Amino acid sequence: MPGIGRSWRINSTFLLWYSLCMFVLLCVIYVKRDIPPSIISFQTKYVMGNLNFWDTSPKRSVHFVRPRNQTFECVPLNDSQIPNDLPEVHRVFLKYKNCRTFPTLLKPKSCSDELHLLLAIKSTAVNVNRRVAIRNTWGKEQVLGGKRVKLVFLLGQSPDRVKAQPLQQLLAYESQQFQDILQWDFADSFFNLTLKEIHFLSWFSAECPQAEFVLKGDDDVFVNTGNIVDFLLDFQPDEDLFVGDVIFNAAPIRKTDLKYFIPKKMYAPKLYPPYAGGGGYLMSRKTVIGLDNMAPSIELFPIDDVYVGMCLEKMNVTLKLHPGFKTFGIQQPFNPFDPCMYKELMIVHKLDPTETWIMWTLVNDEGMKCARQAA
Ligand SMILES: *[C@@H]1O[C@H](CO)[C@@H](O)[C@H](O)[C@H]1NC(C)=O
Ligand SMILES: *[C@@H]1O[C@H](CO)[C@@H](O)[C@H](O)[C@H]1NC(C)=O
Ligand SMILES: *[C@@H]1O[C@H](CO)[C@@H](O)[C@H](O)[C@H]1NC(C)=O
Ligand SMILES: *[C@@H]1O[C@H](CO)[C@@H](O)[C@H](O)[C@H]1NC(C)=O
Repeated sequence: MPGIGRSWRINSTFLLWYSLCMFVLLCVIYVKRDIPPSIISFQTKYVMGNLNFWDTSPKRSVHFVRPRNQTFECVPLNDSQIPNDLPEVHRVFLKYKNCRTFPTLLKPKSCSDELHLLLAIKSTAVNVNRRVAIRNTWGKEQVLGGKRVKLVFLLGQSPDRVKAQPLQQLLAYESQQFQDILQWDFADSFFNLTLKEIHFLSWFSAECPQAEFVLKGDDDVFVNTGNIVDFLLDFQPDEDLFVGDVIFNAAPIRKTDLKYFIPKKMYAPKLYPPYAGGGGYLMSRKTVIGLDNMAPSIELFPIDDVYVGMCLEKMNVTLKLHPGFKTFGIQQPFNPFDPCMYKELMIVHKLDPTETWIMWTLVNDEGMKCARQAA
C-alpha cells in the first residue's frame, strides 16, 4: 500500500509539472503569435539584460490625435518684401520669420520636483535608432550620485510627405511607451532649428523650471553623463552658467553653396558673437530662463547655435570654453573605440548608435582603469 501511494504521489507531481509546462508553452505561443515578426527581431536586437527597449504588450494600440483648436496667429511676409536674389531656403526662412509660436503635438511626462539634470536632445522622427541607443545608454533616466537625470527629445514634424504619417504614428507610440517626446507642429528642417530652440525655452520656463541644469545636444553625440554630473558639483543652478565648445570670432560664411551660407542681407556684421557648437552645451536654470526672457526681443536667425550666442551677448552671460566638449569633432587620428579618451570627455560629436553602445559599455566598465593602464 505505501508503494502504491508513493507512485501515485509521483504521478500527480509529474502531472502537475507537465500541465504547468504545457501552460507556459501555450502562453508563449499565444504571445508570439500576436507580435509582428518585425517587432520580434527589433526586440531581440535591443533587449540586453533589463534594458527592455520595446514593451511588446500586443493589445495596446496608439492613435495619434492632433490636439484640437489651438489657433496661432502668424502673417507670413509678402513675397514682394523678400529679396529674390537669395536661395530658396533663405527666402522661405525670411517669409516665416515672424511665425514664432506653433502648437504642441506631443508632451513628455512632467518633470519631477527634484530634478538635477535635464538632457534635452534635438532629434527628428526618422532617427528612431539614435533615440533607442540614447535611452538605453547615456540618456537613461537614472539617479547618479543622488542626482536625478531626465531625458526629453525635441522634435518637429517630418517634412517628408510620404513618410510623415507613419512617422507621426511611431512618435505617438514612442511617446506613450517612454513619455520622453516633446514635439511641435513645425517642419523639422535645418533652418527651423531656431524655432525648436525657442519652443524648448518656453516649454522649460512653463513646465520644467525645477530642473537645475540643462544639457542641450544633438542625437548623434555621446555624453559622459557621469562626468557632467561631477562637473556640475561646483556650480549653482541660480547663477549663470553656459559651458561648451565655444568659438570666438567666427565669421559668417558668405559662399553661397555651403550649408551655413548667410547672405549679408540677413546678417551684415563681419563676426558672430561667441557661441557654442550646437552638438552639446550645458546651462544652468538661470541661464535657460534668461534666454527664454531674452528671445522674444531677438529676431530669429537660421543657425540656432549662433542665435543662442546672440541672446547670451545681450544677457551679458560669459560663455565658458571647456576642452571636454568636442562638438566640432576631434583631431585625427582618433580611435572611436579608445575608452580612455572618453573618460576625460563630456561630449563627443558624431557617433553612430553602434559606437554609442560600445562607448557606453566601455566607459562604464569598472575594470577599465585608464590611469592605471597608462602608468
Ligand atoms: C474652435 O474655436 C473657435 C473659436 O474660438 C470656436 O468657434 C469653435 O467652436 C472651436 N472648435 C472646436 C472644435 O472646439
Ligand atoms: C503683397 O504685395 C503686393 C505688391 O506690393 C500687393 O499688391 C499685395 O496686395 C500684397 N499682399 C499682401 C497679402 O499683403
Ligand atoms: C518651418 O516650419 C514651418 C511650419 O511647418 C514651415 O511653413 C516653414 O517652411 C519652415 N521653414 C523652413 C525654413 O524650413
Ligand atoms: C549688459 O551690460 C550692458 C553694459 O554694461 C548694460 O547696459 C545692459 O543693461 C546689460 N544687460 C543685461 C541684460 O543685464
